[in-house]
Amino acid sequence: MPIKRICCIGAGYVGGPSCAVIASKCPDVQVTVVDLSEERIRQWNSDHLPLYEPQLDDVVKSCRERNLWFSTDVDKAIIEAELIFICVNTPTKLFGIGKGRAADLKYIESAARRIATVAKSSKIVVEKSTVPVKAAESITNILQANVKPGVKYQVLSNPEFLAEGTAISDLVSPDRVLIGGEKTDQGREAVEALCWIYEHWIPKEQIIVMNTWSSELSKLAANAFLAQRISSINAISAICEATGADVSEVAGAIGTDSRIGSKFLKASVGFGGSCFQKDVLNLVYLCECLNLPEAAAYWQQVVDINDYQRKRFALRIVESLFNTVTDKNITILGFAFKKDTGDTRESAAIYLSKYLLDEEAKIRIYDPKVEKEQMLRELTSPMISDNPDRVSKLVTIYDDVYEAAKGSHALVLCTEWDEFKTLDYKRIYADMLKPAFIFDGRIILDHEALMEIGFHVETIGKRLTRKPVHRPIAPCTQ
Ligand code: NAI
Repeated sequence: MPIKRICCIGAGYVGGPSCAVIASKCPDVQVTVVDLSEERIRQWNSDHLPLYEPQLDDVVKSCRERNLWFSTDVDKAIIEAELIFICVNTPTKLFGIGKGRAADLKYIESAARRIATVAKSSKIVVEKSTVPVKAAESITNILQANVKPGVKYQVLSNPEFLAEGTAISDLVSPDRVLIGGEKTDQGREAVEALCWIYEHWIPKEQIIVMNTWSSELSKLAANAFLAQRISSINAISAICEATGADVSEVAGAIGTDSRIGSKFLKASVGFGGSCFQKDVLNLVYLCECLNLPEAAAYWQQVVDINDYQRKRFALRIVESLFNTVTDKNITILGFAFKKDTGDTRESAAIYLSKYLLDEEAKIRIYDPKVEKEQMLRELTSPMISDNPDRVSKLVTIYDDVYEAAKGSHALVLCTEWDEFKTLDYKRIYADMLKPAFIFDGRIILDHEALMEIGFHVETIGKRLTRKPVHRPIAPCTQ
């Protein structure tokens, strides 16, 4: 089946960038990205895209209205396409069976039902969302139960491995592309059709074909391994703080072992983002359902250590500030879950803010990319706050970092934005209340230089010893 038209259901962090790259690399294919959200589609069609990613603006502008389209007309795009990507969200279930762990598949199911309802010709349906193992089977069942005469479906798994902040370069030069499909003639044909799309820019040997269930599980396993590395080094950081070892030195030492490798060994205030916690919990739930309690408990610890790390850091802030932060001005530097994205889902900054708000601290927040409304939405969500009035009373959002720091008791660095490395800390120190504290939750600042200025510095995985302050001794008058 030659692929002339692609439809992508879901214009989010995965659907938008991945289809923009497909359109830019496959000028012979028309790509339409659809979403139920009119606002999101309006933004994709405007100069102000709904999400921030380096290079995304240029890629979208190079092919929008040439062979890349954004639309709310879901049915038309489904009818016209030969290949449909499902890129809808699969959040953690907030209620019912599997609450707090299982993936909520209602958006996947509604996308599959829409395809089954409106499709008039055969389709290759590609599951790009991250799903539990065997979700492709559920999609197939829904499609087959509603199939029209002459229409055939093939469902493939093609999980996405892009990381926010580097989405475009990850999509242009991925480590690998994974495709799972049925080992039947029709299945192989569908896999070939999808390979043909990727082969426009990705060498054949980097496209790995496997069975559908392996492909679905590989995505969950990859995220679980990445999250586990962060939790492992964070667990070591707690030992460092208790003993006087330095986690950066330990990470450097173990990272030189080629079996371990140096990537993803940076201790921090904890991982965030829409995927790691959700996907590990999804794996935990899968283990429980498969009656594998030991495997479930093992992966659950990855999430528990992440919680522990955030709480430990919050506690350290309170203890350092003389065991009370009530009414103190604390400036949070960075609200995005990592640098180079405006995404705040599961950001450590949300949890840090929550713990400090519980202590009635006055929180000031500065982030170079996150909109004020989005921060307030996160902080007033029912999972975080049972008292939205307290948030509006105690939280102020700034668009100038120096104004935010003025009169603060402490700065708490939560996101590793590059600009935080080069702020004028002498100016900031001069405008802060003394003693002026800085808590570096990402280990990116020059701690020696900050201590030289006069800051009291605390960071992850290291005890910093303050240089003795040489004060002139007052002459004895008696
Ligand atoms: P998102 O929340 O940014 O976007 C999902 C979009 O789907 C929303 O705009 C929503 O309105 C739309 N949608 C939901 N149901 C729909 C329907 N029936 N018809 C049309 N549109 C519908 O989610 P994001 O971050 O793009 O993630 C999508 C999937 O990709 C998830 O399964 C996620 O786990 C996975 N993933 C996410 C990555 C990331 O970095 N964000 C990386 C790799 C995978």
